[in-house]
Amino acid sequence: MPAWAIVPAPVSVEAAEGTWFTLGRSTRILTPPGSAEAAAAGELLAGVLRRSTGLPLPVSAATAAAPGDAISLELTGDGRLGDEGYELAVTGETATLRASRPAGLSMGAQTLRQLLPPAVEATTLRPGPWRLPGGRVADRPRFAWRGAMLDVARHFFTVAEVKRFIDLLALYKLNVLHLHLTDDQGWRIAIHSRPRLATHGGSTQVGGGPGGHYTQRQYAEIVAYARDRYVTVVPEVDVPGHTNAALASYAELNCDGRARRRYTGTKVGFSSLCVEEQVTYRFLDEVLGELAALTPGPYLHVGGDEVQTLSDEQYAAFVERVQRIVRAHGKRAIGWQEITKAKLLPDTVAQYWDHRIGGDVVRATRQGTRLVLSPAERAYLDMKYDERTTLGLEWAGHVEVRDAYEWDPSTLLDGVGDDRVLGVESQLWSETLERIEDVEYMTFPRLPGIAEVGWSPAAGRRWDDYRRRLAAHGPRWSAMAVHYYRSPQVPWPD
Ligand code: ACM
Repeated sequence: MPAWAIVPAPVSVEAAEGTWFTLGRSTRILTPPGSAEAAAAGELLAGVLRRSTGLPLPVSAATAAAPGDAISLELTGDGRLGDEGYELAVTGETATLRASRPAGLSMGAQTLRQLLPPAVEATTLRPGPWRLPGGRVADRPRFAWRGAMLDVARHFFTVAEVKRFIDLLALYKLNVLHLHLTDDQGWRIAIHSRPRLATHGGSTQVGGGPGGHYTQRQYAEIVAYARDRYVTVVPEVDVPGHTNAALASYAELNCDGRARRRYTGTKVGFSSLCVEEQVTYRFLDEVLGELAALTPGPYLHVGGDEVQTLSDEQYAAFVERVQRIVRAHGKRAIGWQEITKAKLLPDTVAQYWDHRIGGDVVRATRQGTRLVLSPAERAYLDMKYDERTTLGLEWAGHVEVRDAYEWDPSTLLDGVGDDRVLGVESQLWSETLERIEDVEYMTFPRLPGIAEVGWSPAAGRRWDDYRRRLAAHGPRWSAMAVHYYRSPQVPWPD
Protein backbone atom coordinates (compact mmCIF):
# COMPACT_ATOMS: atom_id res chain seq x y z
CA MET A 1 0.00 0.00 0.00
CA PRO A 2 1.41 3.45 -0.84
CA ALA A 3 2.63 5.30 2.24
CA TRP A 4 1.50 8.57 0.65
CA ALA A 5 -2.08 7.74 -0.21
CA ILE A 6 -3.40 11.18 0.74
CA VAL A 7 -6.87 12.15 -0.49
CA PRO A 8 -7.41 14.86 -1.58
CA ALA A 9 -3.97 14.98 -3.21
CA PRO A 10 -1.78 17.71 -1.71
CA VAL A 11 -0.20 20.44 -3.81
CA SER A 12 3.23 18.88 -3.26
CA VAL A 13 4.73 15.84 -1.53
CA GLU A 14 8.43 15.06 -1.12
CA ALA A 15 9.13 11.68 0.44
CA ALA A 16 12.31 11.10 2.49
CA GLU A 17 12.75 7.41 1.69
CA GLY A 18 13.69 5.24 4.64
CA THR A 19 12.90 7.86 7.29
CA TRP A 20 10.10 7.18 9.76
CA PHE A 21 8.84 8.91 12.88
CA THR A 22 7.39 6.36 15.29
CA LEU A 23 4.82 7.55 17.83
CA GLY A 24 5.53 6.16 21.29
CA ARG A 25 4.68 6.50 24.96
CA SER A 26 6.76 9.67 25.32
CA THR A 27 5.43 11.41 22.18
CA ARG A 28 3.74 14.73 22.95
CA ILE A 29 1.50 17.02 20.95
CA LEU A 30 2.66 20.62 21.25
CA THR A 31 0.53 23.62 20.34
CA PRO A 32 1.38 27.32 20.04
CA PRO A 33 1.01 29.19 23.35
CA GLY A 34 -1.92 31.58 23.45
CA SER A 35 -4.10 29.95 20.78
CA ALA A 36 -7.12 28.16 22.23
CA GLU A 37 -8.15 27.14 18.71
CA ALA A 38 -4.80 25.52 17.97
CA ALA A 39 -4.93 23.76 21.34
CA ALA A 40 -8.41 22.47 20.46
CA ALA A 41 -7.13 21.20 17.09
CA GLY A 42 -4.32 19.40 18.96
CA GLU A 43 -6.83 17.84 21.37
CA LEU A 44 -9.07 16.66 18.54
CA LEU A 45 -6.10 15.00 16.84
CA ALA A 46 -4.99 13.42 20.12
CA GLY A 47 -8.54 12.17 20.72
CA VAL A 48 -8.56 10.30 17.39
CA LEU A 49 -5.06 8.85 17.86
CA ARG A 50 -5.43 7.78 21.50
CA ARG A 51 -8.38 5.43 20.92
CA SER A 52 -6.49 3.00 18.69
CA THR A 53 -2.88 3.58 19.76
CA GLY A 54 -3.51 3.68 23.51
CA LEU A 55 -0.67 6.22 23.71
CA PRO A 56 -1.07 9.08 26.20
CA LEU A 57 -0.15 11.81 23.65
CA PRO A 58 -0.45 14.69 26.13
CA VAL A 59 -1.29 18.04 24.54
CA SER A 60 0.51 21.08 25.94
CA ALA A 61 1.69 24.53 24.93
CA ALA A 62 5.14 24.50 23.32
CA THR A 63 8.10 26.03 25.10
CA ALA A 64 11.15 27.49 23.40
CA ALA A 65 13.11 24.22 23.67
CA ALA A 66 13.51 22.14 20.48
CA PRO A 67 10.53 19.81 20.23
CA GLY A 68 11.98 16.27 19.97
CA ASP A 69 9.60 13.28 19.93
CA ALA A 70 6.58 15.47 19.30
CA ILE A 71 3.85 16.32 16.87
CA SER A 72 4.32 20.06 16.90
CA LEU A 73 1.53 22.38 15.74
CA GLU A 74 2.72 25.87 14.88
CA LEU A 75 1.09 29.09 13.62
CA THR A 76 3.24 31.17 11.27
CA GLY A 77 1.91 34.51 12.45
CA ASP A 78 1.50 35.70 8.86
CA GLY A 79 -1.00 34.90 6.12
CA ARG A 80 1.51 33.12 3.89
CA LEU A 81 -0.23 29.74 3.87
CA GLY A 82 -3.77 31.11 3.45
CA ASP A 83 -6.83 30.30 5.57
CA GLU A 84 -6.66 26.53 5.17
CA GLY A 85 -3.16 25.83 3.83
CA TYR A 86 -0.48 24.02 5.83
CA GLU A 87 2.97 22.51 5.66
CA LEU A 88 3.85 19.19 7.26
CA ALA A 89 7.45 18.07 7.78
CA VAL A 90 8.23 14.63 9.21
CA THR A 91 11.77 13.73 10.29
CA GLY A 92 13.02 10.77 12.32
CA GLU A 93 12.37 12.69 15.56
CA THR A 94 9.38 14.94 15.03
CA ALA A 95 6.39 15.90 12.92
CA THR A 96 5.92 19.64 12.46
CA LEU A 97 2.62 20.99 11.21
CA ARG A 98 2.66 24.65 10.33
CA ALA A 99 -0.26 26.85 9.23
CA SER A 100 -1.19 30.50 9.11
CA ARG A 101 -4.58 29.88 10.71
CA PRO A 102 -6.04 27.23 13.04
CA ALA A 103 -8.17 25.92 10.13
CA GLY A 104 -4.93 25.03 8.35
CA LEU A 105 -3.76 23.08 11.40
CA SER A 106 -7.03 21.13 11.28
CA MET A 107 -6.58 20.41 7.55
CA GLY A 108 -2.98 19.32 8.11
CA ALA A 109 -4.04 17.06 10.97
CA GLN A 110 -6.22 15.15 8.49
CA THR A 111 -3.18 14.58 6.29
CA LEU A 112 -1.23 13.35 9.30
CA ARG A 113 -4.03 10.89 10.16
CA GLN A 114 -3.97 9.56 6.60
CA LEU A 115 -0.21 8.98 6.79
CA LEU A 116 -0.59 6.65 9.77
CA PRO A 117 -1.68 3.01 9.23
CA PRO A 118 -5.43 2.54 8.56
CA ALA A 119 -5.95 0.84 11.94
CA VAL A 120 -5.31 4.21 13.58
CA GLU A 121 -8.95 5.02 12.76
CA ALA A 122 -10.25 2.14 14.89
CA THR A 123 -12.13 3.05 18.06
CA THR A 124 -10.54 0.22 20.06
CA LEU A 125 -6.94 -0.60 20.91
CA ARG A 126 -4.76 -1.92 18.03
CA PRO A 127 -1.15 -3.15 18.10
CA GLY A 128 0.74 -0.63 15.90
CA PRO A 129 3.57 0.24 15.24
CA TRP A 130 2.41 3.80 14.60
CA ARG A 131 4.85 5.16 12.04
CA LEU A 132 4.68 8.33 9.95
CA PRO A 133 6.72 8.32 6.70
CA GLY A 134 9.43 11.01 6.57
CA GLY A 135 9.08 13.86 4.11
CA ARG A 136 7.36 17.16 3.45
CA VAL A 137 3.89 18.16 2.33
CA ALA A 138 2.92 21.67 1.22
CA ASP A 139 -0.75 22.15 0.62
CA ARG A 140 -3.65 24.55 0.19
CA PRO A 141 -7.13 24.27 -1.35
CA ARG A 142 -8.06 25.22 -4.90
CA PHE A 143 -11.60 26.27 -3.95
CA ALA A 144 -12.99 27.88 -0.81
CA TRP A 145 -16.27 25.87 -0.80
CA ARG A 146 -15.94 22.10 -0.60
CA GLY A 147 -19.27 20.79 0.52
CA ALA A 148 -21.59 17.89 1.02
CA MET A 149 -25.36 18.11 1.29
CA LEU A 150 -27.34 15.73 3.45
CA ASP A 151 -31.12 15.51 2.98
CA VAL A 152 -32.54 15.00 6.46
CA ALA A 153 -36.05 15.84 5.22
CA ARG A 154 -36.99 12.78 3.13
CA HIS A 155 -35.60 10.58 5.88
CA PHE A 156 -34.55 11.95 9.24
CA PHE A 157 -31.09 11.34 10.68
CA THR A 158 -30.21 11.80 14.34
CA VAL A 159 -27.73 14.26 15.84
CA ALA A 160 -25.24 11.43 16.44
CA GLU A 161 -25.57 10.29 12.83
CA VAL A 162 -25.02 13.79 11.50
CA LYS A 163 -21.95 14.18 13.74
CA ARG A 164 -20.47 11.00 12.31
CA PHE A 165 -21.13 12.34 8.81
CA ILE A 166 -19.28 15.53 9.80
CA ASP A 167 -16.30 13.47 11.01
CA LEU A 168 -16.13 11.80 7.61
CA LEU A 169 -16.33 15.13 5.76
CA ALA A 170 -13.54 16.59 7.88
CA LEU A 171 -11.26 13.64 7.14
CA TYR A 172 -11.39 14.63 3.44
CA LYS A 173 -10.95 18.36 4.13
CA LEU A 174 -14.51 19.23 3.17
CA ASN A 175 -15.53 22.44 4.89
CA VAL A 176 -19.27 22.86 4.24
CA LEU A 177 -22.16 20.72 5.49
CA HIS A 178 -25.31 21.78 3.65
CA LEU A 179 -28.32 20.45 5.58
CA HIS A 180 -31.50 20.16 3.52
CA LEU A 181 -33.78 20.76 6.51
CA THR A 182 -37.20 21.04 4.90
CA ASP A 183 -39.11 19.43 2.08
CA ASP A 184 -42.57 18.16 1.21
CA GLN A 185 -42.12 15.11 3.45
CA GLY A 186 -40.76 16.73 6.59
CA TRP A 187 -39.73 19.89 8.44
CA ARG A 188 -36.71 19.08 10.61
CA ILE A 189 -35.82 22.20 12.61
CA ALA A 190 -37.82 23.64 15.52
CA ILE A 191 -38.96 27.20 14.85
CA HIS A 192 -40.21 28.74 18.10
CA SER A 193 -42.53 31.25 16.45
CA ARG A 194 -44.09 28.43 14.37
CA PRO A 195 -44.05 25.32 16.56
CA ARG A 196 -46.29 23.18 14.33
CA LEU A 197 -43.66 23.13 11.57
CA ALA A 198 -41.62 20.66 13.60
CA THR A 199 -44.28 18.96 15.72
CA HIS A 200 -46.71 18.37 12.84
CA GLY A 201 -44.66 18.99 9.69
CA GLY A 202 -41.76 17.00 11.09
CA SER A 203 -43.77 14.02 12.24
CA THR A 204 -43.44 11.86 9.16
CA GLN A 205 -41.08 11.03 6.29
CA VAL A 206 -40.95 9.18 2.97
CA GLY A 207 -42.77 5.89 3.38
CA GLY A 208 -44.68 7.13 6.43
CA GLY A 209 -42.16 6.56 9.24
CA PRO A 210 -42.15 8.73 12.38
CA GLY A 211 -39.79 11.40 10.97
CA GLY A 212 -38.32 13.67 13.60
CA HIS A 213 -36.80 17.10 14.04
CA TYR A 214 -33.91 18.85 15.77
CA THR A 215 -34.66 21.10 18.70
CA GLN A 216 -32.79 24.38 18.45
CA ARG A 217 -30.45 23.16 21.17
CA GLN A 218 -29.70 19.96 19.23
CA TYR A 219 -29.21 21.92 16.04
CA ALA A 220 -26.78 24.26 17.82
CA GLU A 221 -24.90 21.15 18.98
CA ILE A 222 -24.49 20.02 15.36
CA VAL A 223 -23.32 23.48 14.32
CA ALA A 224 -20.78 23.65 17.16
CA TYR A 225 -19.50 20.14 16.46
CA ALA A 226 -19.00 21.07 12.83
CA ARG A 227 -17.36 24.38 13.70
CA ASP A 228 -14.79 22.63 15.91
CA ARG A 229 -13.82 20.64 12.79
CA TYR A 230 -13.76 23.72 10.54
CA VAL A 231 -16.93 22.67 8.78
CA THR A 232 -19.51 25.44 8.22
CA VAL A 233 -23.15 24.39 8.35
CA VAL A 234 -25.30 25.91 5.60
CA PRO A 235 -28.95 25.32 6.53
CA GLU A 236 -31.51 25.05 3.75
CA VAL A 237 -35.15 25.94 4.05
CA ASP A 238 -36.43 25.10 0.58
CA VAL A 239 -38.99 27.63 -0.72
CA PRO A 240 -41.34 28.37 -2.41
CA GLY A 241 -41.71 24.77 -3.67
CA HIS A 242 -40.94 21.58 -1.74
CA THR A 243 -43.05 23.06 1.06
CA ASN A 244 -45.87 20.60 1.69
CA ALA A 245 -44.73 19.98 5.28
CA ALA A 246 -45.14 23.72 5.99
CA LEU A 247 -48.41 23.89 4.05
CA ALA A 248 -49.71 21.00 6.17
CA SER A 249 -48.69 22.73 9.39
CA TYR A 250 -50.19 26.22 8.80
CA ALA A 251 -53.38 26.66 6.79
CA GLU A 252 -52.70 30.37 6.23
CA LEU A 253 -49.70 29.56 3.99
CA ASN A 254 -52.04 28.08 1.38
CA CYS A 255 -53.73 30.37 -1.16
CA ASP A 256 -57.06 28.67 -0.44
CA GLY A 257 -56.52 28.86 3.32
CA ARG A 258 -56.82 25.09 3.73
CA ALA A 259 -54.04 23.05 5.30
CA ARG A 260 -52.65 20.28 3.10
CA ARG A 261 -52.41 16.67 4.23
CA ARG A 262 -48.95 15.46 5.19
CA TYR A 263 -47.10 13.81 2.31
CA THR A 264 -44.98 10.66 2.35
CA GLY A 265 -44.50 10.01 -1.39
CA THR A 266 -41.60 11.08 -3.62
CA LYS A 267 -43.14 13.25 -6.34
CA VAL A 268 -41.74 16.79 -6.72
CA GLY A 269 -43.02 20.12 -7.99
CA PHE A 270 -46.61 20.11 -6.68
CA SER A 271 -46.34 22.39 -3.65
CA SER A 272 -45.83 26.13 -3.31
CA LEU A 273 -46.17 28.83 -0.72
CA CYS A 274 -48.77 31.46 -1.60
CA VAL A 275 -46.38 34.01 -3.06
CA GLU A 276 -48.89 36.85 -3.49
CA GLU A 277 -49.83 36.99 0.18
CA GLN A 278 -48.16 39.08 2.86
CA VAL A 279 -48.49 36.26 5.44
CA THR A 280 -45.95 34.27 3.42
CA TYR A 281 -43.28 36.94 3.83
CA ARG A 282 -44.03 37.35 7.53
CA PHE A 283 -43.61 33.58 7.83
CA LEU A 284 -40.29 33.66 5.95
CA ASP A 285 -39.03 36.57 8.03
CA GLU A 286 -39.72 34.62 11.22
CA VAL A 287 -38.29 31.34 10.00
CA LEU A 288 -35.20 32.82 8.39
CA GLY A 289 -34.67 35.12 11.35
CA GLU A 290 -34.57 32.19 13.78
CA LEU A 291 -32.38 30.22 11.43
CA ALA A 292 -29.96 33.15 11.02
CA ALA A 293 -29.66 33.40 14.80
CA LEU A 294 -28.66 29.71 14.89
CA THR A 295 -26.13 30.13 12.08
CA PRO A 296 -22.64 31.51 12.69
CA GLY A 297 -21.74 30.91 9.02
CA PRO A 298 -22.45 33.52 6.34
CA TYR A 299 -25.02 31.63 4.23
CA LEU A 300 -28.67 30.63 4.38
CA HIS A 301 -29.83 28.33 1.57
CA VAL A 302 -33.34 29.16 0.35
CA GLY A 303 -33.80 26.33 -2.15
CA GLY A 304 -35.83 27.63 -5.07
CA ASP A 305 -35.72 24.43 -7.12
CA GLU A 306 -38.38 22.63 -9.15
CA VAL A 307 -41.25 25.08 -8.80
CA GLN A 308 -43.94 24.11 -11.30
CA THR A 309 -46.97 26.02 -10.07
CA LEU A 310 -45.82 29.64 -10.47
CA SER A 311 -45.29 31.89 -13.48
CA ASP A 312 -41.70 33.02 -14.18
CA GLU A 313 -42.67 36.52 -13.04
CA GLN A 314 -44.12 35.28 -9.76
CA TYR A 315 -41.09 33.09 -9.17
CA ALA A 316 -38.55 35.84 -9.88
CA ALA A 317 -40.38 38.35 -7.67
CA PHE A 318 -40.46 35.81 -4.86
CA VAL A 319 -36.72 35.04 -5.08
CA GLU A 320 -35.86 38.73 -5.17
CA ARG A 321 -37.87 39.28 -2.02
CA VAL A 322 -36.51 36.27 -0.15
CA GLN A 323 -32.87 37.17 -0.76
CA ARG A 324 -33.58 40.59 0.78
CA ILE A 325 -35.10 38.94 3.85
CA VAL A 326 -31.95 36.85 4.18
CA ARG A 327 -29.83 39.96 3.91
CA ALA A 328 -31.95 41.78 6.49
CA HIS A 329 -30.96 39.02 8.92
CA GLY A 330 -27.28 39.61 8.20
CA LYS A 331 -26.73 36.61 5.91
CA ARG A 332 -26.07 35.90 2.25
CA ALA A 333 -28.52 33.83 0.22
CA ILE A 334 -27.67 30.75 -1.79
CA GLY A 335 -30.23 28.94 -3.91
CA TRP A 336 -30.47 26.25 -6.59
CA GLN A 337 -29.66 27.36 -10.11
CA GLU A 338 -33.29 28.22 -10.94
CA ILE A 339 -32.86 31.41 -8.88
CA THR A 340 -30.77 32.82 -11.75
CA LYS A 341 -34.14 33.59 -13.42
CA ALA A 342 -34.40 36.41 -10.87
CA LYS A 343 -32.32 39.57 -10.49
CA LEU A 344 -29.84 38.51 -7.87
CA LEU A 345 -28.05 40.61 -5.29
CA PRO A 346 -24.30 40.73 -5.96
CA ASP A 347 -23.47 38.37 -3.11
CA THR A 348 -26.24 35.82 -3.72
CA VAL A 349 -24.75 32.47 -4.77
CA ALA A 350 -26.35 30.00 -7.19
CA GLN A 351 -25.89 26.25 -6.99
CA TYR A 352 -25.67 24.55 -10.39
CA TRP A 353 -27.16 21.04 -10.54
CA ASP A 354 -28.95 20.19 -13.79
CA HIS A 355 -27.70 20.83 -17.33
CA ARG A 356 -31.26 20.53 -18.65
CA ILE A 357 -32.20 23.83 -16.97
CA GLY A 358 -28.95 25.61 -18.05
CA GLY A 359 -29.44 29.02 -19.69
CA ASP A 360 -29.64 31.71 -17.08
CA VAL A 361 -26.76 30.36 -15.02
CA VAL A 362 -24.02 31.48 -17.40
CA ARG A 363 -25.71 34.85 -17.94
CA ALA A 364 -25.87 35.36 -14.16
CA THR A 365 -22.14 34.66 -13.79
CA ARG A 366 -21.45 37.41 -16.34
CA GLN A 367 -23.31 39.76 -14.05
CA GLY A 368 -21.20 38.67 -11.09
CA THR A 369 -23.00 35.69 -9.55
CA ARG A 370 -20.69 33.01 -8.19
CA LEU A 371 -21.50 29.32 -8.39
CA VAL A 372 -21.28 26.23 -6.29
CA LEU A 373 -21.09 23.32 -8.73
CA SER A 374 -23.09 20.14 -8.10
CA PRO A 375 -23.57 18.63 -11.57
CA ALA A 376 -26.02 15.76 -11.04
CA GLU A 377 -24.19 13.31 -13.33
CA ARG A 378 -21.02 13.82 -11.22
CA ALA A 379 -21.91 15.00 -7.75
CA TYR A 380 -25.34 13.49 -6.99
CA LEU A 381 -24.41 10.66 -4.67
CA ASP A 382 -28.01 9.46 -4.57
CA MET A 383 -27.60 8.20 -8.14
CA LYS A 384 -26.98 4.45 -8.42
CA TYR A 385 -23.40 3.32 -9.09
CA ASP A 386 -24.63 0.94 -11.77
CA GLU A 387 -27.70 -1.10 -12.68
CA ARG A 388 -27.07 -3.51 -9.79
CA THR A 389 -27.18 -0.85 -7.05
CA THR A 390 -30.34 -1.44 -5.04
CA LEU A 391 -30.42 1.98 -3.32
CA GLY A 392 -30.71 5.33 -5.05
CA LEU A 393 -32.23 6.88 -8.15
CA GLU A 394 -31.27 6.96 -11.83
CA TRP A 395 -32.70 10.11 -13.39
CA ALA A 396 -29.21 11.57 -13.98
CA GLY A 397 -27.77 8.19 -14.99
CA HIS A 398 -25.34 6.01 -13.11
CA VAL A 399 -22.49 7.70 -11.25
CA GLU A 400 -19.52 5.38 -10.75
CA VAL A 401 -16.43 6.38 -8.77
CA ARG A 402 -14.64 7.53 -11.90
CA ASP A 403 -17.56 9.75 -12.98
CA ALA A 404 -17.59 11.49 -9.61
CA TYR A 405 -13.82 12.09 -9.88
CA GLU A 406 -12.99 12.80 -13.51
CA TRP A 407 -14.32 16.30 -14.20
CA ASP A 408 -13.06 19.80 -13.75
CA PRO A 409 -14.93 22.84 -12.40
CA SER A 410 -13.29 25.27 -14.84
CA THR A 411 -14.44 23.38 -17.94
CA LEU A 412 -17.90 22.24 -16.79
CA LEU A 413 -19.82 25.24 -18.15
CA ASP A 414 -18.81 27.12 -21.29
CA GLY A 415 -17.79 30.64 -20.36
CA VAL A 416 -17.56 29.98 -16.62
CA GLY A 417 -13.95 29.89 -15.39
CA ASP A 418 -12.43 29.31 -11.96
CA ASP A 419 -12.98 32.91 -10.89
CA ARG A 420 -16.79 32.47 -11.02
CA VAL A 421 -16.66 29.17 -9.15
CA LEU A 422 -16.86 29.32 -5.38
CA GLY A 423 -16.47 25.57 -5.14
CA VAL A 424 -18.05 22.15 -5.43
CA GLU A 425 -20.58 20.19 -3.44
CA SER A 426 -21.93 16.63 -3.46
CA GLN A 427 -25.63 15.98 -2.92
CA LEU A 428 -27.19 13.15 -1.01
CA TRP A 429 -30.96 13.11 -1.41
CA SER A 430 -32.50 10.56 0.89
CA GLU A 431 -35.75 9.41 -0.78
CA THR A 432 -34.42 5.82 -0.86
CA LEU A 433 -31.97 6.07 2.06
CA GLU A 434 -33.61 5.05 5.32
CA ARG A 435 -30.57 4.31 7.47
CA ILE A 436 -27.25 6.04 8.00
CA GLU A 437 -25.59 2.87 6.66
CA ASP A 438 -27.39 3.56 3.37
CA VAL A 439 -26.05 7.11 3.42
CA GLU A 440 -22.50 5.84 3.94
CA TYR A 441 -22.81 3.26 1.18
CA MET A 442 -23.80 5.91 -1.36
CA THR A 443 -21.24 8.42 -0.04
CA PHE A 444 -18.20 6.14 -0.03
CA PRO A 445 -16.18 5.82 -2.14
CA ARG A 446 -17.52 8.74 -4.25
CA LEU A 447 -17.26 11.65 -1.82
CA PRO A 448 -13.44 11.67 -1.58
CA GLY A 449 -13.39 12.17 -5.37
CA ILE A 450 -15.53 15.30 -5.10
CA ALA A 451 -13.28 16.45 -2.26
CA GLU A 452 -10.24 16.08 -4.50
CA VAL A 453 -11.96 17.95 -7.37
CA GLY A 454 -12.52 20.82 -4.95
CA TRP A 455 -9.17 20.80 -3.15
CA SER A 456 -6.38 19.60 -5.44
CA PRO A 457 -4.67 21.42 -8.33
CA ALA A 458 -6.20 20.37 -11.66
CA ALA A 459 -2.80 19.76 -13.24
CA GLY A 460 -1.83 16.87 -10.98
CA ARG A 461 -5.09 14.94 -11.06
CA ARG A 462 -5.09 11.59 -12.87
CA TRP A 463 -7.67 8.83 -12.44
CA ASP A 464 -5.13 6.04 -12.48
CA ASP A 465 -3.11 7.58 -9.68
CA TYR A 466 -6.27 8.52 -7.76
CA ARG A 467 -7.82 5.04 -7.84
CA ARG A 468 -4.67 3.58 -6.26
CA ARG A 469 -4.62 6.19 -3.50
CA LEU A 470 -8.35 5.72 -2.94
CA ALA A 471 -7.90 1.95 -2.64
CA ALA A 472 -5.72 2.50 0.43
CA HIS A 473 -8.71 4.15 2.14
CA GLY A 474 -10.85 1.00 2.06
CA PRO A 475 -9.10 -0.44 5.15
CA ARG A 476 -9.47 2.97 6.82
CA TRP A 477 -13.25 2.86 6.32
CA SER A 478 -13.31 -0.72 7.55
CA ALA A 479 -11.48 0.40 10.71
CA MET A 480 -14.16 3.08 11.18
CA ALA A 481 -16.99 0.62 10.40
CA VAL A 482 -18.06 2.79 7.46
CA HIS A 483 -20.29 0.93 5.01
CA TYR A 484 -18.89 1.46 1.54
CA TYR A 485 -19.35 0.19 -2.00
CA ARG A 486 -16.49 -1.96 -3.24
CA SER A 487 -16.48 -0.50 -6.71
CA PRO A 488 -14.80 -2.74 -9.32
CA GLN A 489 -13.07 0.40 -10.61
CA VAL A 490 -10.84 0.57 -7.53
CA PRO A 491 -8.01 -1.94 -6.79
CA TRP A 492 -8.92 -2.58 -3.14
CA PRO A 493 -6.33 -4.39 -1.05
CA ASP A 494 -7.72 -7.51 0.65
C1 ACM B 1 -32.53 19.31 -6.85
O1 ACM B 1 -31.94 18.24 -7.07
N1 ACM B 1 -33.85 19.38 -6.88
C2 ACM B 1 -31.81 20.53 -6.57
